[in-house]
Amino acid sequence: MSVINSALRSAAACALLAASSFAPASAEPSSDVLVVYFSATGTTQKAAEAVATELKADLFAIEPVQPYTAADLDYRDPESRSSKEHADPSVRPEYKGDPAGWDQYHTVLIGYPIWWGLAPNVVYGFVEKHDFSGKTVGTFSTSATSGHGGSGTDLAAKAGKGDWKYHQGFKVGDPEDAPVSWARTLK
Ligand SMILES: Cc1cc2nc3c(=O)[nH]c(=O)nc-3n(C[C@H](O)[C@H](O)[C@H](O)COP(=O)(O)O)c2cc1C
Repeated sequence: MSVINSALRSAAACALLAASSFAPASAEPSSDVLVVYFSATGTTQKAAEAVATELKADLFAIEPVQPYTAADLDYRDPESRSSKEHADPSVRPEYKGDPAGWDQYHTVLIGYPIWWGLAPNVVYGFVEKHDFSGKTVGTFSTSATSGHGGSGTDLAAKAGKGDWKYHQGFKVGDPEDAPVSWARTLK
């Protein structure tokens, strides 16, 4: 019985992989555009997937080794994990893996939720770890009300290299296709 269950689970996993429209960025690049994103509650993930589909780009999710719980994300609690990370800008939460074939990407677009007007610390960790020399870079965010602000230019300053020329925020209440419309302007 357990063998059958296990076989069924494997088949289901294969079907899911086959159904995915994205080349996993852990494989070799299938595009010269890479969309990298961090999303704690799914909003940025949706935007990133829409942008990647429009640009036929590869997609890489920054997944923290320790996922954020609802309590971690409580920005009203000064003792929550996200509040403490915000209070100490040197914190760099560990994340899983890195995109394969980094040097082959010409354009990298980085998406994240706005946390206290900026990108979350884990995104800074990704940006500091990678060499953006010779690459065109864009940043995009999702937020409640604040907008993109200086979040993209702050990441650019931390990266130090690359041509960080596109910065776009998407707020609650923006048209649902706003990420796709923005992606079209990059073609
Ligand atoms: C810790 C934390 C801080 C936030 N700070 C802001 C903020 O400064 N301005 C804002 O408009 N929204 C803020 N938000 C709301 C998120 O930016 C917004 O819900 C975002 O779309 C979530 O994206 P995600 O689902 O991809 O994680 C904050 C959310 C959290 C959890």
